[in-house]
Amino acid sequence: MKKVNLSPNISTFPMPAAVISVGLGEEANLITLAYVGKVCHDPPIIAVSIRPNRHSYQFIEKYNEFVINYPTIEQLREIDYIGTRSGRDINKWSRLGLTKEEASVVKVPMVKEFPWNMECKVIKRIELGSHVCYFGKVVATHSDPKYVKNEALDPEKFEFPTYIAGNYLEIKKGLLEKHGFSVE
Ligand SMILES: Cc1cc2nc3c(=O)[nH]c(=O)nc-3n(C[C@H](O)[C@H](O)[C@H](O)COP(=O)(O)O)c2cc1C
Repeated sequence: MKKVNLSPNISTFPMPAAVISVGLGEEANLITLAYVGKVCHDPPIIAVSIRPNRHSYQFIEKYNEFVINYPTIEQLREIDYIGTRSGRDINKWSRLGLTKEEASVVKVPMVKEFPWNMECKVIKRIELGSHVCYFGKVVATHSDPKYVKNEALDPEKFEFPTYIAGNYLEIKKGLLEKHGFSVE
């Protein structure tokens, strides 16, 4: 197979298009992030990366807490709006009619209208270059029951958008196989 060389900086496979809440009370803000990924099973840890020039940066630095909120495909406009406007200039909650919902462990609010929320406490921070990476221990997870089967996210009900290199994508074809299907 002949292969072409590409820039080391191209986007990899689709990433989440998640909305992170940071900050407390009136100053609480929302930011869309694609750099979000689970990096440890036990304890459960998710890494998120934020550029220091974002308005949200000061709040994650100050409180060491954040909530990952996953909007559905129907909420794509909210995802894009939150990822293209700054909380320095507008209140994204009120502009989008979003409601602050009290979290169970952290003080940062969750987004009530987004059906999947993961409360995280920062356990480590690494300056990588353009972005600062925060490792958040997941301390609570909440879901609309319609996405849940056997106490986990039902992959066949998955309707959260993904993001790659400026494009929002839908995962359309659903389940291919179960983990371990190749084992004889
Ligand atoms: C789909 C998408 C993914 C994004 N991913 C990131 C990211 O991983 N890290 C980051 O710092 N900014 C990311 N951004 C940009 C911020 O969301 C954007 O600059 C936002 O307006 C910052 O808001 P704030 O200034 O209120 O914090 C992304 C934007 C979009 C639309």
